Amino acid sequence: MAIRQIVKEGDDILTKKCRPVVKFDERLADLLDDMAETLHLANGVGLAAPQVGILRRLVIIDIGEGVIELINPKIIAYSGDQESVEGCLSCPGEWGITHRPEYVKVKAQNRFGEEFTIDGKELLAKAFCHEIDHLDGILYKQKVVRMLTPQEIEEMNS
Ligand code: CO
Repeated sequence: MAIRQIVKEGDDILTKKCRPVVKFDERLADLLDDMAETLHLANGVGLAAPQVGILRRLVIIDIGEGVIELINPKIIAYSGDQESVEGCLSCPGEWGITHRPEYVKVKAQNRFGEEFTIDGKELLAKAFCHEIDHLDGILYKQKVVRMLTPQEIEEMNS
C-alpha cells in the first residue's frame, strides 16, 4: 500500500466527470487499498478517485465503522433533509453549511464487480452524496448555504 497525494481545489481534475470502472483487477484493488490508507492518514470521512488524480467512478467512505468501497455508485433513493457542517480533504481548513438528504440509498459494485445496495442516515448519507458528487466534478462548495467564518471554525475545533 502507498499514500497517494490528495489533489487540492483549483486543480482542473476536480471539475471533470469520471468514467465508469470496467476492469475489476489487481490495479483497482491496489488503488482502493492506497485510497484507504490515504483517507485514514488524512483523518477524513471519504475520498473519491479524482481526489487522487484518477478519473474513474469509485469512492471510499469510513465514518469510523470500517471502510465502505463503492464502485460505479448511483443514488437510487433518498429522503428527508439535514443541515450540517461539511468539509473536504481537497479544501483543507475550510468548512461550510450544507443541506443534504437525511437518508440515502446507493447501488454500487464491490471490488470484485458484484452489485450491492447500501443505505445510510445522517453522516453516512451526507458522505454518500458528497463523494458521489466528486465523480461528476462537483465540490460541496457549489452546494453550501454559506461558508463558516474563521471564528466559527476556531470554536468548532475547541
Ligand atoms: Co470531498
